[in-house]
Amino acid sequence: PKRRAELKDRIRRLLQERNAVMVSHYYVHPDLQDLAMETGGIVSDSLEMARFGRDHAATTLVVSGVRFMGETAKILSPEKTVLMPDLDANCSLDLGCPIDEFSAFCDAHPDRTVVVYANTSAAVKARADWLVTSSCALEIVQALKDKGHKILWAPDKHLGAYIQRETGADMVMWSGSCIVHDEFKGFELEALKQEHPQAKVLVHPESPADVIALADAVGSTSAILKAAREMAAREFIVATDNGMMHVLRQQNPDKVFFEAPTAGNSATCKSCAHCPWMAMNGLEGVAQVLERGLNAIEVDPALIPRARQPIDRMLAFTA
Ligand code: 13P
Ligand code: SF4
Repeated sequence: PKRRAELKDRIRRLLQERNAVMVSHYYVHPDLQDLAMETGGIVSDSLEMARFGRDHAATTLVVSGVRFMGETAKILSPEKTVLMPDLDANCSLDLGCPIDEFSAFCDAHPDRTVVVYANTSAAVKARADWLVTSSCALEIVQALKDKGHKILWAPDKHLGAYIQRETGADMVMWSGSCIVHDEFKGFELEALKQEHPQAKVLVHPESPADVIALADAVGSTSAILKAAREMAAREFIVATDNGMMHVLRQQNPDKVFFEAPTAGNSATCKSCAHCPWMAMNGLEGVAQVLERGLNAIEVDPALIPRARQPIDRMLAFTA
């Protein structure tokens, strides 16, 4: 605890010295969430991380999350220094959608509007017409469908299938998935619901269809938080990365939250639902990158203007 307190003090001092602000995702270690809030930064979902970083006056952003979040921050603010505690913090959706194959997929469907999830590389974003995150994907695809667009969707197959079921849009899809949410199991969730019949089920739409089918609320990390605050229930079962448990419990001290079952967490593993890449972020890393100016995110300047267009569209749509 003494070492943690020292590190936090060091980071507070460095943030001031470097004119820097912390931008943390809900899935990173609670220390990085709390410290961001205590120092004038933000802890939020990927959409609000992007907006906050773009609008903040600091000259350095310290992004605790995964690589695409740092890249989005850099695309929106090329003049800012964007530091990340660990540059190897990636995402299975990003890794599973390489630009060459994705480009060929787009070329094969020239009549479709290309809608990509934020969890992608800068090069993939530069091929897109629209960017979405889970907090606005449904509304954006609905609006495009209403205007008569046919959609090419990438890369998350579960989120894509959920949106297709909800909107009835004509969508061809890439077949990627999130290694964390893909592990939630419908059969085991049904059993846990029977143990806690009063509990409401909150599900992130990167989860498989049979898990989504059991949900009382489906939505992004911020939608899950809102549902937990507003629903009258006392107990909740939550199907998303368990980094969210910290803020859920902080905001709702009188409510009880259970983790939804994954293949492994019943018997052998108490925290399977935690992204290994999000877990690469820590206090030590934040202190080091601030101290030594390490791990600056770079995006090919030639890609930035084109990659920015779909992000700007999303931010304007959700403003
Ligand atoms: P949010 O957009 O809900 O923050 O989700 C990002 C993510 O990586 C989900 O796994
Ligand atoms: Fe990617 Fe899933 Fe990790 Fe989110 S939780 S960063 S979607 S692998």
